[in-house]
Amino acid sequence: MTNKSTPHHVAIVMDGNGRWASRRFLPRIAGHKQGVDALKRCARACDARGIKVLTVFAFSSENWQRPQEEVSGLMDLFALALGREVPQLKADGVQLRFIGERQGLSSRVLKGIELAESATAANQQLVLNVCFNYGGRWDIVQAAARVAAQGLAMTEQSLSQMMALAHVPDPDLVIRTGGEQRISNFLLWQSAYSEFFFSDKLWPDFDEAELDLAIQTYGQRDRRFGKVSGQRDAVSLPTGSN
Ligand code: FPP
Repeated sequence: MTNKSTPHHVAIVMDGNGRWASRRFLPRIAGHKQGVDALKRCARACDARGIKVLTVFAFSSENWQRPQEEVSGLMDLFALALGREVPQLKADGVQLRFIGERQGLSSRVLKGIELAESATAANQQLVLNVCFNYGGRWDIVQAAARVAAQGLAMTEQSLSQMMALAHVPDPDLVIRTGGEQRISNFLLWQSAYSEFFFSDKLWPDFDEAELDLAIQTYGQRDRRFGKVSGQRDAVSLPTGSN
């Protein structure tokens, strides 16, 4: 059910998996496994609320610096989860997109990404952008390089059109779980006019009630987009129209 205060595009920094596991004397990867389940629940809940785009930060450019055991555990989990979840996501009308630098990923992960994208490309119900080996600065640099390579004038519009999320409008609402209040190199360009909601819940504990609180809080904000009052549009403008 959509209403005026339902965000069209929600983006999430899924933080707190490691702490969730440590508090239970479990290895960190157990928290990431719970994180996959939390993501599945969240995607369903977003769809049920009429949200059309969900973008999540699954692995940052900086996450390679974590202990080797955690990095390889995350890569395994990612490849396994893709193989396991794609049929259901396809049936649910979810279009999967992977956003980030593909160079440096293993052939197993790359194959999973390509299969998931092609299997769900025609779906329209919910676009799920998974930011993987992604950084906001990487995105700005790769977009600038593409603008330059094509000999285009460097403008906000030309840059926006080359950004990795050019297929969706900018996020209306950015949620970060886990209690920290920072952006951590996520959607630096696209979040220029997003509303932010910081949750103390650890990502595996993020539930429908917390999503509803975030949406309700968002609905109470006065989005001015740099103007004096009133909304610029019912939903965000495409990223090329800032
Ligand atoms: C941050 O928590 C979380 C991550 C770096 C990984 C998030 C990944 C998933 C939820 C799995 C996604 C999988 C698919 C298939 C999309 P943290 O480890 O920084 O937690 P901490 O702050 O408590 O240490």
